[in-house]
Amino acid sequence: MKLSIENIYKFVNKEEILALHADTEKSLNQLHDKTGCGNDFLGWLNLPSSISENDIADIQTTADKLASLADFIIVIGIGGSYLGAKAVIEALSHSFDNFRTNKKHPTVMFAGQNMSEDYLHDLLETIKGKRVAAIVISKSGTTIEPAITFRLIKKYIDETYGAAAAERIVAITDKARGAMNTITKNNGYKMFVIPDDVGGRFSVLTPVGLLPVTVAGFDIKKLVQGAADMEKNTAANVPFDNNNACIYAAARNALLKKGKKVEILANFNPKLHSLAEWWKQLYGESEGKDGKGIFPASVDFTTDLHSLGQYIQDGERMLFETVLSVEQPKYRLTVPEDKENIDGLNFIAGKRINEVNKCAEQGTILAHIDGGVPNIHISIPTIDEYNVGQLIYFFEKACGISGYLLGVNPFDQPGVEAYKKNMFRLLKD
Ligand code: PA5
Repeated sequence: MKLSIENIYKFVNKEEILALHADTEKSLNQLHDKTGCGNDFLGWLNLPSSISENDIADIQTTADKLASLADFIIVIGIGGSYLGAKAVIEALSHSFDNFRTNKKHPTVMFAGQNMSEDYLHDLLETIKGKRVAAIVISKSGTTIEPAITFRLIKKYIDETYGAAAAERIVAITDKARGAMNTITKNNGYKMFVIPDDVGGRFSVLTPVGLLPVTVAGFDIKKLVQGAADMEKNTAANVPFDNNNACIYAAARNALLKKGKKVEILANFNPKLHSLAEWWKQLYGESEGKDGKGIFPASVDFTTDLHSLGQYIQDGERMLFETVLSVEQPKYRLTVPEDKENIDGLNFIAGKRINEVNKCAEQGTILAHIDGGVPNIHISIPTIDEYNVGQLIYFFEKACGISGYLLGVNPFDQPGVEAYKKNMFRLLKD
């Protein structure tokens, strides 16, 4: 993974970044020494290097069993209990996976992330008569969206498979407490534990992310290896200038001080759409508190150049952009020659579509910088398990550092409770 902040220097002096070196390294050390706020939620810091062969084997065995029983596996969870798995699976999957026949692995479907009656109706209608299993993920077990969904799916599986229902449900939850722990024990489900010291949005490298990703047929050893290498590259002993997590955290805080209150994560590859959704939760829930924080937004380019592109180029100048770039696609495809050339595009005939996309990327970055939008550039060689693992750990580490730099506790989420209080009051009225 490469990171460049060259294109923020028109907006922030190098001295202003330099001035943040000491505080950034202090924040990095606070994470590692466990002396900062929320220090009981730092289990994610060493997760990649501490995942054992046995952990991986247990996940693989469970995934194989589920795959032997089911063609459709419903992953039930919300927020940190689903976004990471969705991000990784979408990044690594065939773009039209749901339309493919003769698939070697089950189709992973996500539910429990909304309370739409139509969505749940459509889900039940789709799975009817199919071979189905479920992975339910909830640390508390009382989060209303996955709890309602699990009731529906459990009922369906119980009614369809009778005495054999339990083997089709795997729960990922707290090791000892909570409703889901009790339901799991009462029903004899296979259970994986979400460690006490790992919050939802930092849990993708626990079974929360690793089991669904394995079920979908991807190699979690490589994913974890990518994250473990990034763990080394961003460790406490890696100085600021070589530590990409520190550089990214410092750059975004320096931009915030200049009034750039919104960070847009932009991709030029639709496979990265859900990675941005995961990133938004990670940064939004970690930093948006105490009246502070950078608002995390995302765009899929070039698609959104034809919608939000106008605002980014020309609207209120409170934005900076982080482009998440992929150097090489997996496949080659060139623009065809056309005899009639009515669209006038024969001048690019024979060029790889990726070359056109790359020109769009460079053109966009230049245009946005000219329009007053500073640019941070992150690139990975290609989308695969290893590089996605690198990105996950990089963003998590930078998020912890950035939150401390901002002066907030990046590991709590008190604001999430407000809507729930109102909702439950209204439900009881
Ligand atoms: O990041 C978080 O902590 C949250 O997004 C939770 O993951 C989310 O609210 C789901 O909670 P639970 O796993 O208890 O159902």
